[in-house]
Amino acid sequence: MQALVTRRIPQEGLAVLAQAGVCSFQQWDSDEPIPRSELLAQVAGKHGLLCLLSDRIDKEVLDAAGSNLKVISTMSVGVDHLALEEIKKRGIRVGYTPDILTDATAELAVALLLATSRRLPESMEEVKNGGWTTWKPLWMCGYGLSDSTVGIIGLGRIGQAVARRLKPFGVKKFLYTGSHPKPESAAEFQAEFVPLTKLGEESDFVVVTCSLTPETKGMCNEDFFARMKKTSVFINTSRGAVVNQDDLYQALVSGQIAAAGLDVTTPEPLPTDDPLLALKNCVILPHIGSATYGTRNAMSVLAANNLLAGLKGEKMPSELQL
Ligand code: GLV
Ligand code: GLV
Repeated sequence: MQALVTRRIPQEGLAVLAQAGVCSFQQWDSDEPIPRSELLAQVAGKHGLLCLLSDRIDKEVLDAAGSNLKVISTMSVGVDHLALEEIKKRGIRVGYTPDILTDATAELAVALLLATSRRLPESMEEVKNGGWTTWKPLWMCGYGLSDSTVGIIGLGRIGQAVARRLKPFGVKKFLYTGSHPKPESAAEFQAEFVPLTKLGEESDFVVVTCSLTPETKGMCNEDFFARMKKTSVFINTSRGAVVNQDDLYQALVSGQIAAAGLDVTTPEPLPTDDPLLALKNCVILPHIGSATYGTRNAMSVLAANNLLAGLKGEKMPSELQL
């Protein structure tokens, strides 16, 4: 059997594939994405595909792969880049990498929240450009977590891990929203299930940790930002498309909300002339939620093991239920 690996990935994952002796594999051995034309050519006839969140696996790719393709293993927890209906129709199995990246991603969400609310990048810039002239009582003030209300959009594994990390900062109240209440997940934080509108109105910090689905696409829009307090901070570590980015820009420019911290944008990478990058009250990171050495190694190993299990027709360590 043959597999295609669409990028340079940690050696740990490759070693698992190489040592198993289940398949030979072809790899796009570069840090840059495989060009679309190469992807379409190289996937042809493959039995397995190990891909990343930056590879759009749609009908065209599935058609190019042909009927050999049995398993798609993505080295990500998000699966919004996969045409799931088409994949299901063809009886292809899908592996993904939940759980092992929860801690790293939640940690990054907290780091981004603090960097945004306490204006770290802006402050560092002032040190470098001579703006730090003296200790000034009214300078570089931000918003603290103590006694705050935090609203989590999507109280899944990552959302809960974020709440667990924020609680010791003295958060007074947690709110959450999603497709349905999750009393068991919410109990630890006495988090209250509320509609999105109320979460916007009452939160001092909004953290988006939901997955991107047709239901969540564009959910944080003009109406939502208009409900948020002028002193509130918006954080997104899920997918850029959950947010209407033009509406977010307007909310930041007009002072409708205080600041935003984004680890995900539309598109990715964000062009360097994007207007959001000119805003002091917006902190943008290049989608590094899961980027610890340990987590990326573990993701590559899990993705490799999912692929191998799928090729052998065995139970995958982490299979997406289609
Ligand atoms: C990262 O965004 C992932 O989906 O793993
Ligand atoms: C989302 O996929 C999560 O793990 O919270």
